[in-house]
Amino acid sequence: MTNQIRVGIIGLGVMGAGHARFLHEHVPGAKVSALFDIDSRRMASLSSELGTVALQASDPVELMDHPEVDAIIIASPDSLHVAQLRLAIASRKPTLCEKPMATSLEDSRLIASEIAAYEAAENRTMINFGFMRRFDPSYLEVRRLLATGEFGAPTFFRTITRNVSSMGVTTQGLFTNIAVHDFDIYRWLFNDEWLSVQSHYPKHSSLSPKDIADPLVITAFMKSGLMMVADIVAFNNYGYDARVEIVCEKGSIEIGINGDVITRANRVMGTHTGGVMAEDWMTRFKLSYIEELKAWISGIQTGVPNLDLANYADALAANEACALGVASI
Ligand SMILES: NC(=O)c1ccc[n+]([C@@H]2O[C@H](COP(=O)([O-])OP(=O)(O)OC[C@H]3O[C@@H](n4cnc5c(N)ncnc54)[C@H](O)[C@@H]3O)[C@@H](O)[C@H]2O)c1
Repeated sequence: MTNQIRVGIIGLGVMGAGHARFLHEHVPGAKVSALFDIDSRRMASLSSELGTVALQASDPVELMDHPEVDAIIIASPDSLHVAQLRLAIASRKPTLCEKPMATSLEDSRLIASEIAAYEAAENRTMINFGFMRRFDPSYLEVRRLLATGEFGAPTFFRTITRNVSSMGVTTQGLFTNIAVHDFDIYRWLFNDEWLSVQSHYPKHSSLSPKDIADPLVITAFMKSGLMMVADIVAFNNYGYDARVEIVCEKGSIEIGINGDVITRANRVMGTHTGGVMAEDWMTRFKLSYIEELKAWISGIQTGVPNLDLANYADALAANEACALGVASI
């Protein structure tokens, strides 16, 4: 195929390997041409699985500078994103970096200003961030339903993100690694900004590490007055559980665990599908990751960026809200 985008991926764990497989199987305009992970066995095994990899790099710079790499995915651990984003800026190649942009507010502001200067010099968007819920069919449907006006104005929303386990996460990480998705998606959905964030601590789960606040309940307000009640469970021990309910003046719109969108209005209610629960987010959000990758690749091919892809300003806004939450711990 002409104009095929050759992608190099850094970090080949759950997300990096997932992106590699999704590109390989579902995005005809892209080819995975280079890989880097400090775990060389992981790199070799993914390389032989894909059969398209020209380079198993020995460091991120070798991958980014390679002539067979047109675009970069950063899917390394959160704490490495800032340093690898700086390398991506130096490479001048389009980059999709997994969330979060950084793990501290200071670093987020610094790297955001560096990306802003870089993109101003290039006169185009060069760096996007992996807030894939923006491409999820259920959130898109909720956005469409809200716009119909049938449910009246939204007043508050409840959101749930419960992982089976979250090894190594800290209480701060419950914000920057998990709730960061909430802070992004509702800015996008409601076209609003975050004003305040507060942490609350339910009874601690005896099955969770003692040093993290698990479960964590977050309340937050947007500038319009919309309120969020989010619960984050790091170790739920029962199955990946991500849900939302938006309570409007004349009805309610809910996204269920399987991504069903059900509504309640005019004395009529929908029902959710049941079944076996997934172990993690890869099943629930598979379509979102694929659509996000397609949007990113197509933007590189056509030179017309997809405006639903999160940019540095979006990633910074999400981290600013995380910092309000962290300050309230
Ligand atoms: N958008 C989403 O829905 C979503 C979901 C999960 C994770 N993430 C993000 O994706 C990133 C990766 O998460 P994950 O779940 O795949 O983690 P993971 O632990 O499964 O994988 C991380 C990988 O990075 C590798 N690594 C470690 N140090 C490295 C280095 N110096 N250079 C290159 N690679 C290195 C590890 O060997 C491992 O293979 C994180 O930033 C995480 O927050 C995003």
